[in-house]
Amino acid sequence: MDIAKISYQLEHSGYIVLAKPLAEGLLADLFVRCHDDNSTRFHAAQVGRGAGKQLSGMRGDVINWLDASNDTDQAYLACMELLRLGLNESVFLGLFDYECHYAIYGEGEGYAKHSDVLQGQKNRILTTVLYLNEDWHAPDGGELVVFEASGKTVVTTVNPTFGTMIIFLSESFPHEVLLSRATRRSIAGWFRVSGS
Ligand code: OGA
Ligand code: MN
Repeated sequence: MDIAKISYQLEHSGYIVLAKPLAEGLLADLFVRCHDDNSTRFHAAQVGRGAGKQLSGMRGDVINWLDASNDTDQAYLACMELLRLGLNESVFLGLFDYECHYAIYGEGEGYAKHSDVLQGQKNRILTTVLYLNEDWHAPDGGELVVFEASGKTVVTTVNPTFGTMIIFLSESFPHEVLLSRATRRSIAGWFRVSGS
């Protein structure tokens, strides 16, 4: 990944959309992992943390947190670790760790406008989303709409096409996943600082 370019964009606009930052072979492996095959790995996404955690009508995805003991998951985590170290050298965000999950949205599902920095998640600094949809077409929907901080103006709309990755400052950009009319696969993740 081009750390210099990513750092520059994060400092100047707070987000960057990368066309295909990862190797094809890794993307293919991640795509295979992002399937709800044995019905125990994925579970309905919840909103909030700890005691405040609850099933939400806001989002319709099922998720699975990446598992460092799986080779494919580990390969992705290793890429993101390199990104974390690179960003810490160039933009001084003090990123401490990274957590991420596969997400699958079924037909007719989306995620209402929200911020990734909610009560109990104040340590989330940077959001990343990697899309794993081969042959995505506009009628499939499921675009990510990113708003400026007030939530009133659209900053960018991202098509969830295979290999595309967006990185943005978690606190600065409310965002929404438009209703998907096809199965929609992704990996959502957060670089965090240590602390509460
Ligand atoms: C999230 C999220 C965006 C996307 O999981 O918090 O906003 O495009 N995902 O999948
Ligand atoms: Mn989000």
